[in-house]
Amino acid sequence: MPASALMNVMLAAARKAGRSLARDFGEVEQLQVSLKGPSNFVSAADHRAEEILYEELTRARPGYGLLMEERGEVEGADRTHRWIVDPLDGTTNFLHGIPIFAISIALERDGELVAGLIFNPATQETFAAEKGKGAYLNDRRRLRVAARSDLAQSVIGTGIPHSGRPEHGLFLRELGAVMAASAGVRRMGAAALDLAWTAAGRLDGFWERHLRPWDLAAGIVILREAGGFVSDADGKDAMLDKGSIVAGNETIQRKLLKLLKDAGHASA
Ligand code: IPD
Ligand code: CA
Ligand code: CA
Repeated sequence: MPASALMNVMLAAARKAGRSLARDFGEVEQLQVSLKGPSNFVSAADHRAEEILYEELTRARPGYGLLMEERGEVEGADRTHRWIVDPLDGTTNFLHGIPIFAISIALERDGELVAGLIFNPATQETFAAEKGKGAYLNDRRRLRVAARSDLAQSVIGTGIPHSGRPEHGLFLRELGAVMAASAGVRRMGAAALDLAWTAAGRLDGFWERHLRPWDLAAGIVILREAGGFVSDADGKDAMLDKGSIVAGNETIQRKLLKLLKDAGHASA
């Protein structure tokens, strides 16, 4: 990917925060969830990473606003630009020593998502894209969504609502429909990486509900630049507002959306 000044800013911030997460992840693996509140440790790791991202991004682009998972909305003097950041996506994986987690950084310009970067410090994989410039893995390999058009041969990712999350019944109906129609369903545990992996053709499609803008923003840019299609669960373009997402290549996205709509309408 031709390195732009913007991408360099995003990459430098992600690498620095990634070093902090990688160190903390090493600790988690060592302690393997010590008696004394591993979740406190993980939440401290999360905050450390966010702090680094905040500092790096505001230093490089002082006026930009931010929407960060821990800090919330931070208004900037420049109302046209906003970073949307998840410092640690895949917290439960991180806590359990599962190396599937990521930093997700997106840039919105005039309300439009124009750049996204998702970095997994455990595998050192960087998925990145700028609107109109294509999507890349580790700066080298051009990302492209899978070409499969048959759902029966497709592997579909999702997120399973856990305790405290709503709509378990609806999810089970949707899962039932996708299980029956596909070659397999995967739950990786980090929505940003699910989207990056769909962009990379590892997953043929992905759907999830009740996500937040920082889970989705970077992945949407990367997926679109990899030739993917994306909508909310109603087939509209309001993913960040509604928190639902259905993604894949053009055909799989359409088929998956129909399957989910039909499952939603089926009686509980
Ligand atoms: C979570 C992950 C997970 C998804 C959850 C998200 P977090 O983000 O993306 O895959 O199923 O709904 O909240 O809490 O690990 O940043
Ligand atoms: Ca997240
Ligand atoms: Ca998070």
